Amino acid sequence: MVLMTASPPLSPFRRAAAAAAGTALGVDPALLVVTTPPDPSMGDYAVGCFPAAKALRAAPAALAQKVVASFQPTDLLAEATAHGPYVNFRLHRGPLFRTLLERTISKTARPISTSAGEGKTVCIDFSSPNIAKELAYHHIRSTVIGQSLVNIYRALGYRVVGINHLGDWGTTHGMLLCACDKWGFPEPLTIAGLNELYVRFREAMKKDPALEDQARQWFKRLEEGEPSVVATWQRFRDVSLAEFKEVYNLLGIHFEEIKGESEYQEAMPSVIQMLEQKGLTSISEGALVVDLSDQKMPPLLLRKADGTTLYATRDLAAAMYRHEKYQFVRSLYVVAREQGLHFQQLFATLKKAGLDWADRMEHVSFGLVRIGGRKSGTRSGNAVLLRDVLNEAKAEIHAKLKETSPDLPPDQADAIATVVGHGAVVFANLASQREKDVDFDWDEILSLEGDAGPYVQYAHARTASVLRRGGVADPTELSGIDVAPLVREEEWNLAKLLVDLGDETARAAQSNEPHVVARYLLDVCASFSRWYTLGNQDPALKVLCADERTKMARLALTAGVREILRTGLGLLGLKAPDAM
Ligand code: ARG
Repeated sequence: MVLMTASPPLSPFRRAAAAAAGTALGVDPALLVVTTPPDPSMGDYAVGCFPAAKALRAAPAALAQKVVASFQPTDLLAEATAHGPYVNFRLHRGPLFRTLLERTISKTARPISTSAGEGKTVCIDFSSPNIAKELAYHHIRSTVIGQSLVNIYRALGYRVVGINHLGDWGTTHGMLLCACDKWGFPEPLTIAGLNELYVRFREAMKKDPALEDQARQWFKRLEEGEPSVVATWQRFRDVSLAEFKEVYNLLGIHFEEIKGESEYQEAMPSVIQMLEQKGLTSISEGALVVDLSDQKMPPLLLRKADGTTLYATRDLAAAMYRHEKYQFVRSLYVVAREQGLHFQQLFATLKKAGLDWADRMEHVSFGLVRIGGRKSGTRSGNAVLLRDVLNEAKAEIHAKLKETSPDLPPDQADAIATVVGHGAVVFANLASQREKDVDFDWDEILSLEGDAGPYVQYAHARTASVLRRGGVADPTELSGIDVAPLVREEEWNLAKLLVDLGDETARAAQSNEPHVVARYLLDVCASFSRWYTLGNQDPALKVLCADERTKMARLALTAGVREILRTGLGLLGLKAPDAM
């Protein structure tokens, strides 16, 4: 993506390292990548000299030596050493600890800087299910990846428009209307009832091919806006949306715009006209198409021989509307990998029409979800429903809680089971790179120890419990605490990780991968646990140790961990329980 590369790190500490190397070499620090050395004893940050070596036509190792030779300590940087092509920097510890507390627990705390996105808009098309069909489990991937990207961009200061491009148009509705006409309207109306009708109609169509034509006639009446037909379709739409909203509410999903494909009917002729005027259309077997053979793609279908428009035509209209209305810097489509060709055709057509902003559009694709080895899909008949999976996860956590915390009051146990059960399902969908297929294993995703949502939530609950036991009612009071007692390497490594949330969030946005944040949170939990469990060996290393000054400093660090976990979980769309 052309627009957002070479953005400097958000962390002042990483920026300082890049600036020191960049200034010494006379190159733009934004070219330099700041990483972490493989072994913390080598230094806190490493800056590789490869990009500078290319620009300056010099050996990277010589450049690293050059940086070290001219290095002067600053407020943030204490030391620089060369290690082959890398310059390893060591930080002053006090300023980092203090910045961490300032950002996480002061009254004006802001764990993520919003400077990256200020004044910019991102459109995110996500979830976008077809009406009259149940939300199946695979819909969760688009829904949770999309919502997480909304949260991520928003945290970075972007204005985000989350869009549900409801699949509420097309020949399916002709079939449903025809089926209702033949066999009666299902009462009370539910998605399940509509789905049954649809399946029955398709069966009937196999025996009686004439039905296909009738369905087409019904769809035509709908397209032409016959009032009673539109009213029936409107009921399909209303009942579907109401049922979708129940699941959206369970998961905390929100859209700025719910705009169905049906709403682009009026815009369609002008889109087709625009393409015709630019000489991009041709007729193929009676249909109006945009030829894309020069790009080795099949043609994009604009209008069928019978005059009805198509999914792609509506997406063209929607893209133009979004650009016009929102002037986006990015427009994302969080849609399954199977639709890859559709989006390539869409973007290529807009490019051909000379609309350069097509470069800002991106298909954020993702792999399949398998439960017990089978692919989830609504058409297959053995669909796995999202609601059922969420309920099952909740029930499993509930059962676990009965064993681990038998004294929890029932309403509290229920609340925790909801937050942790649903969180487990959401996290499982975000924990790996989105292009990877997800094999859904119940034991793994519900685990309190493995790479799972409950593990992160549990770490958060643990920090909350330590703070409670330490008598900290208001963590802001700890933000100015003396950090001098934080002398353990485990404390330092943890703090260094914690100030990286902003950069990790920016990285997640760069690649549209919420997985980056999920991985980061797992690292934070591991680092926290390494520090926290030191107390098992030696009481003097406990957070709640005997020395008051040390205890307060450690409590402040714990409060910082809690804030970072809470914020990070929020980015993924998970709640952060204070007790589990
Ligand atoms: N309704 C489509 C489906 O369920 C997804 C729509 C994705 N968004 C879009 N603008 N095409 O397959």
